[in-house]
Amino acid sequence: MRFDDKVVLVTGGGSGIGEATAVAFAEDGASVSILDIDEAAGAAVAREIEASGGRALSFTGDIANAKDVDHFVSGTFEEWGRIDFLFNNAGTELIAPLLETTEPDWDRVVNTNLKGTFLVTRAALKHMVSTGSGVIINNASDAGLRGIKVNAAYSSSKAAIIQLTRSTALDYAASGIRCNCICPGCIRTPLCERFNAQVGARKGKTGTEVLHEFVMANIPMQRVGEPEEVAALVTFLCSDEARYINGAIIPIDGGLTAGM
Ligand SMILES: NC(=O)c1ccc[n+]([C@@H]2O[C@H](COP(=O)([O-])OP(=O)(O)OC[C@H]3O[C@@H](n4cnc5c(N)ncnc54)[C@H](O)[C@@H]3O)[C@@H](O)[C@H]2O)c1
Repeated sequence: MRFDDKVVLVTGGGSGIGEATAVAFAEDGASVSILDIDEAAGAAVAREIEASGGRALSFTGDIANAKDVDHFVSGTFEEWGRIDFLFNNAGTELIAPLLETTEPDWDRVVNTNLKGTFLVTRAALKHMVSTGSGVIINNASDAGLRGIKVNAAYSSSKAAIIQLTRSTALDYAASGIRCNCICPGCIRTPLCERFNAQVGARKGKTGTEVLHEFVMANIPMQRVGEPEEVAALVTFLCSDEARYINGAIIPIDGGLTAGM
């Protein structure tokens, strides 16, 4: 299999896009180490991978906490002796316009999405630089490519992940490391459900109504994406077929951000 002997770190691997990607890497032969703040969710995905004959580790912790991150990365390295790929996927949302965004809200969103991506990248890079190879995929969002209403903190944090990706690619390409960013649009996950339920509550509509209207009005392909479709992009970007792709920002959104 294409990832036999490879070790991948997946943050937020307990649900949604992270779960689908952890499973996809394991199906391709990789050993998968998950960090999730939700202990039960991360452990369940690791058990699922092991039950299918794969190798998995599950760590519980917060990507915005340097101690948790170091425990995750060094614990994986101690167990398996290498780190090949990192999928910086864990993230959190906030549905609020700026005047309703409290300072703790802002800190939670920016610390999780941006500082968390920085901390995990820094911890993993150390190992990648010492072996002269590695691939990092950051999960931003269509919200990082353009403004989205009632999303100031989230959009800001995701736009910053795009620049963090470019900076990482520039600084470490000569060390044999590639870093790319994916920007999913509307993907069928619990986060997407929470997002639409909250937007719906502001409009006196259900989450399902809001999602349907949004999809029909904005997504040229007229459907949401599936987590497995995002997982396929992430595994491709880590594969040797993608060896010349570096510093790229790649939408996966059915055409959502292609234009009006
Ligand atoms: N679903 C979408 O439509 C969509 C669109 C664009 C971007 N994204 C991004 O994709 C990523 C995954 O989202 P999803 O839709 O799969 O969400 P999800 O809520 O289904 O899964 C997120 C996982 O991350 C974990 N997590 C959250 N905060 C964490 C933290 N501080 N430390 C460790 N783990 C943490 C959660 O426990 C959960 O298991 C996020 O970064 C999100 O912003 C999602």
